[in-house]
Amino acid sequence: MMQVTPAGRLQLAVLASGRGSNFDALCQAIERRDLNADIKVLVSDKENAPALDKARKRNIEAVYLNPRSYNNRDEYESDLVKLLKGQQVTVVALAGYMRLVGPVLLKYFQHRMVNIHPALLPAFPGLQAQQQAVDYGVKYSGCTVHIVDAGMDSGPILMQAVVPVLPDDSGDTLAERILVEEHQIYWRSLQLLAEGRVYIDGRKTVIGGYIDEKGTH
Ligand code: GAR
Repeated sequence: MMQVTPAGRLQLAVLASGRGSNFDALCQAIERRDLNADIKVLVSDKENAPALDKARKRNIEAVYLNPRSYNNRDEYESDLVKLLKGQQVTVVALAGYMRLVGPVLLKYFQHRMVNIHPALLPAFPGLQAQQQAVDYGVKYSGCTVHIVDAGMDSGPILMQAVVPVLPDDSGDTLAERILVEEHQIYWRSLQLLAEGRVYIDGRKTVIGGYIDEKGTH
């Protein structure tokens, strides 16, 4: 089994394409001291992403990186890796980053990149997961934090939260209730990493016991 990160304060980069409520929730968890991390940089692939403004308001470095100004994904990701290395980033958190991660980013941050998805994976990967759940007629959905691998929303699962689907739910009303849970499980999952408790065993994560300052379990 392989430990994902040793115990210690995480140096995070958050990648976001949109609203940034998960980014905000992570910032709040850090402020409350529930999450032992610094957010070094917020990167967006969308120029007008509200997440960029949210970062600027918090005096966190906010960078717009336009994928269209590169010849291909590898070149775009090489630049992104350079930026993240320059900021001494140890873990990358995707928070509404609507882009498939390619081999360059994956290789550098192997097992050190996490994603949040608004469904109980492996059900409903991809876009509009909440609407997919309503359309399918499941009685429960929820959200998942997982380690990123080469597939879409397919890596080892760190944490999930279950949300009932109500008879009159639309995709939007379900999304709103799932979001409340997203804002809880994301910082909790990252805190497990900060405590050095996450190990990878094949396609599973194993969460180790709490290790106190003296190193005892
Ligand atoms: C969140 O619901 C997140 O789970 C989802 O995008 C939303 C971003 O909201 N991500 C995906 O669907 C990824 N497949 P936010 O910008 O307010 O954090």
